[in-house]
Amino acid sequence: MYDIEKIRADFPILTREVNGKPLVYLDNGASAQKPRVVIDAMTRMYEHDYSNVHRGLHTLSNIATEKYESVRGIVARFLHVADEEQIVFTTGSTEGINLVSYAWGAPNLEPGDEIILSVMEHHANIVPWHFLRERQGVKLVWVEPEADGSLPPEKVLEAITPRTKLIAITHMSNVLGTRVDVKPIAQAARTRGIATLVDGSQAAVHGPVDVDDLGCDFYVITGHKLYGPSGSGALFIRRDRMLEMRPFLGGGDMIDTVTRNTVIYNTPPMKFEAGTPGIVQQIGMGVALDYLMGIGMENIAEHERDLRDYTAEKLNGLNWLNQHGTAADKGAIFSLTLNGPAHPHDISTILDKRGVAVRAGQHCTGPLMEWLGVTATARASFGMYNTREEADALISALELCHDLLG
Ligand code: ALA
Repeated sequence: MYDIEKIRADFPILTREVNGKPLVYLDNGASAQKPRVVIDAMTRMYEHDYSNVHRGLHTLSNIATEKYESVRGIVARFLHVADEEQIVFTTGSTEGINLVSYAWGAPNLEPGDEIILSVMEHHANIVPWHFLRERQGVKLVWVEPEADGSLPPEKVLEAITPRTKLIAITHMSNVLGTRVDVKPIAQAARTRGIATLVDGSQAAVHGPVDVDDLGCDFYVITGHKLYGPSGSGALFIRRDRMLEMRPFLGGGDMIDTVTRNTVIYNTPPMKFEAGTPGIVQQIGMGVALDYLMGIGMENIAEHERDLRDYTAEKLNGLNWLNQHGTAADKGAIFSLTLNGPAHPHDISTILDKRGVAVRAGQHCTGPLMEWLGVTATARASFGMYNTREEADALISALELCHDLLG
């Protein structure tokens, strides 16, 4: 059984008040709160076991290296990747996608080659591809969702041409909540030799992900949305794609031998990890992923489906409110605007007075805002510790917004 009270008790911050009201944290899409196990593991690491990794032969360095490296296996288990050497540590999804753009895209794409993107992508999965458009004439091909925000795989596959080299697509929109069925996309792409990058920043937080089953070439996750620390993350790279890649950042750890005139690179995944990494951050992410697997990603998904359906039904009753993204298969992410001139920033400010934290703005999705025909939305994004009572608090605070702004 999903013991929501026990889960909430694991997150110290959830007991605090904001503006004299109990905190209702609905900004999980931006970043999630941290359970005590993660905070304690990081503190213990600094107080007891801290040293650099991969560099020393002394006891602390060995302990730190062992703990740090064990996270590769944890990430592999979390993502259902059999071979943990296909997991590269990053500081988050943004770095992971930039790494793929620089280390795989730049050396493999020619002028006129095409990258398919959906308009739902986060800027982190747009701007690194714009770099290739600006610097080497790669063409970006945009796919739009249906009116409800759903994105049928066929729509993506219809955009393929003989010049398509990469499909870079979100697994779950951070604004609409739409879950994209990426498996048929990745598999059809593979038969045509087209690479696929899946941005799992949101999807991996809200349900099980089986990367080996999806069959994509690249998959990114970010630790801070997964109830772990900021500055942690991971990138899955399929082994055969690793062979097509040059290194990303240069420095220590990513080399085998350096002389005045030559450099021999380390083997993957180390080839893609230069310099002292986020040691304690990655260890914290490992603890967070273990925590999530202990609760069960399917259990979390079921809990959040209940929150989604409960909240959607209440929101549907508010005829002065627009919901952007109503696909049947969506996460508990609600992007809202009020009818009339009220700005989403005003909604967020009023909600905050009630202790309800939501994000307002463009959510790093310029092309999506343009497609929606809005300048911004207020977004309530639920996580594993939220409750129906918190959904009620959101609705009641929105009613206040309507009274004040509507
Ligand atoms: N990508 C994060 C969000 O959607 C920051 O808010």
